[in-house]
Amino acid sequence: MIPVAQPVIGEREEELVLEVLRSGQLSLGPRLAEFEQAFAARVGAAHASAVSSGTAGLHLALRAAGVGEGDEVITSPFSFVASANSVLFERARPVFADIDPVTLNLGVEAARAAVTERTTALLPVDIFGYPVDIAGFESFGLPIVEDACEALGASYADGTLVGSRPHPSVFAFYANKQITTGEGGIVVSGDPAVKERIDSERNQGRAPDMDWLDHDRLGFNYRLSDIACALGLAQLERLEAMLAGRARVAAAYRDALADIEGLALPCEDRDAERRGWFVFVVQVPGAHDRDTVIERLREQGVQSKPYLPAIHLMSFYRERFGHREGEFPVCEDVAARSLALPFFPHLTDSQIEQVAVALRGALGR
Ligand SMILES: Cc1ncc(COP(=O)(O)O)c(C=O)c1O
Repeated sequence: MIPVAQPVIGEREEELVLEVLRSGQLSLGPRLAEFEQAFAARVGAAHASAVSSGTAGLHLALRAAGVGEGDEVITSPFSFVASANSVLFERARPVFADIDPVTLNLGVEAARAAVTERTTALLPVDIFGYPVDIAGFESFGLPIVEDACEALGASYADGTLVGSRPHPSVFAFYANKQITTGEGGIVVSGDPAVKERIDSERNQGRAPDMDWLDHDRLGFNYRLSDIACALGLAQLERLEAMLAGRARVAAAYRDALADIEGLALPCEDRDAERRGWFVFVVQVPGAHDRDTVIERLREQGVQSKPYLPAIHLMSFYRERFGHREGEFPVCEDVAARSLALPFFPHLTDSQIEQVAVALRGALGR
């Protein structure tokens, strides 16, 4: 079976992780700051705080943006559920708006129409690594927390890197991401006060100097261990090669799938916008049942995943907020037809061909 995702782990990862294991300092050691600094340098950010997951990073970034009980945060219904969940952690309300049919990101004008006097922040998501229209969202004049969990390596229309803006942006390092620490995440921003607050809140609210166990605010255990940071450092060393590998696979898929009528491929980069390749998601033609296609692919040795379901139609969100079909038609149509194909840097040309043949077969072409 060709898996849908597979991390690249080599001798360098083993070497750096073993070094930490042998050092005896498994957490809050020197690898933490090293990883933070190396990551911040790669995305052009002034500050970075590594945390235990992307979800933890979103939670702390929203708190730092001032989101609290009763507030509204405008976000995309076409995302991994963590983005909306993180708003609920603070008893605020995720307010959804429909997506752009081309980029599949939160639509700027739809989001603008959803603003009320209770809106405290925007939480746009760079879905499948495609950068949001950040200038559009910045024009609202509201605090932004960017969910860049899927977008390492992406850049905006003005050519600047996702992660280099002053507002907090959150990246994630689960094993399917561009780089992995097993589990992990990081919040980058241009604001030293955001870093100070997040560094404290990830560590039970401990004071910044850490010498004295004085917890002057509420905090969490959202720390990232030195073992994970060592893994992350080794992964960063091979990031450019892995991004190039993903771009190669994406280009090969485009060629191999171009002649399948009605199959929607990921949008091409517009102008200076650059996708940070994370997944290769296609939308099956409307006449086909996506879940049947997934089953037929599986029968031919190709793993694929329904990706992504619409958040507002998940049972928890329906029950809690009364969401129903028809609210966000673009998102619902895309969500019903999308599936993620196998996608990782070392996918071979013959595996890509196998996937293409299987997909043609599954669609009866
Ligand atoms: C868009 C998006 N947001 C948030 C997350 C949450 O990251 P994590 O799984 O590290 O908590 C992910 C990753 O899975 C994601 O893809």
